[in-house]
Amino acid sequence: MTVTFQPFDVPGAQTVHGNAFPYGLQLHCPDTASAGVPTVDEAVIALTSLAESGRLSELLQRHGAVLIHGIGHPAAETFARLINAVENARGAHPFVQIGLAGKRTLVAENVWTANEGPSDRRFYQHNEYSRYTRFPSNIHFYCEKKALQGGETPIAHSALVYEKLQATVPALVREVHQRGLAMKMVFRAPGHEGKGNEFNWAGKHSFGQEFKPGDDRDTQKRKAEAQVRKLTPTFRWLQDDTLELVQHIPGIRRAPASGRPVWFNGLVGRYGMTRDLGALDPPYLGRDGMTYLPCDYGDGTAIPAEYLQKLEEVVNSLEIDLCLEEGDLLLVDNLQVSHGRKPWTGERKILVSMWETDQSPMEAF
Ligand SMILES: [Fe+2]
Repeated sequence: MTVTFQPFDVPGAQTVHGNAFPYGLQLHCPDTASAGVPTVDEAVIALTSLAESGRLSELLQRHGAVLIHGIGHPAAETFARLINAVENARGAHPFVQIGLAGKRTLVAENVWTANEGPSDRRFYQHNEYSRYTRFPSNIHFYCEKKALQGGETPIAHSALVYEKLQATVPALVREVHQRGLAMKMVFRAPGHEGKGNEFNWAGKHSFGQEFKPGDDRDTQKRKAEAQVRKLTPTFRWLQDDTLELVQHIPGIRRAPASGRPVWFNGLVGRYGMTRDLGALDPPYLGRDGMTYLPCDYGDGTAIPAEYLQKLEEVVNSLEIDLCLEEGDLLLVDNLQVSHGRKPWTGERKILVSMWETDQSPMEAF
């Protein structure tokens, strides 16, 4: 049975530099017995050939994000089969996480729960792991279960964010361009986590990758330090074994696919969440009991609050709220496109898969 793809207009899509963002592809199956829904095997074959031909990479580079509709059979296993086949065909490698600040569970091969933080908490726009110098080229989303209400997956085009910021808050763009950003992270010791988005430095995908059962605290700290150093030389241990680290990043980079400057950092994500948790002022303690240090310019000076407020307005104004249907696959070029999460009621299962491609490194702009 031949499965074909047909482009469709995604509700709310924008035109970015002449290209639809995101690009929509609908799977069509001529077999009437299956009511137009291909089998998982047929979908895997169709998507693999799209990837092998180079067409899928071309679409991702040009459009930044591709929404694939009509796959059917919503399940973690369906996502795993599809995404592993597609990324292997593109010659990509699974991204190995370091420094995870949240809860994620591996549910199938290279497939994770998106983030198990509370459903009433909004996640503002961020390119995945852009707060570090080590990040995946792609993050793909999959809807296994749609929320009763809300739970959209908003995305924004990072080249557009850069352009609108330059027009609206040119001083912020200029300062970040000249001084970069100092992204600060606080990881509590095991047993001292907050409530709601519990994580600590010992997490398997935070800095506990090499831990063995029975490791004492000093051994754990030594092993955690080796992982931290893969990200940054700038960190310290506090008396209660809290780990504070600072990662210096350019904040604005050049997207390899387009050569255009992109706003590439987790600044608005951190600002929005910290504000919502009431942690903007010293001692920067959130309602969830966690510490959220403000991010500074790279030279350690504070970013004025009014710039951060304008930044949030600009990013919010460019967000596209995608309502993923069960079985929908959203492929995202993490180097060009940021994502977030809207609150919801009921049960919602969004899964993610992160990959690295061998394309040229992402230079600072
Ligand atoms: Fe994310």
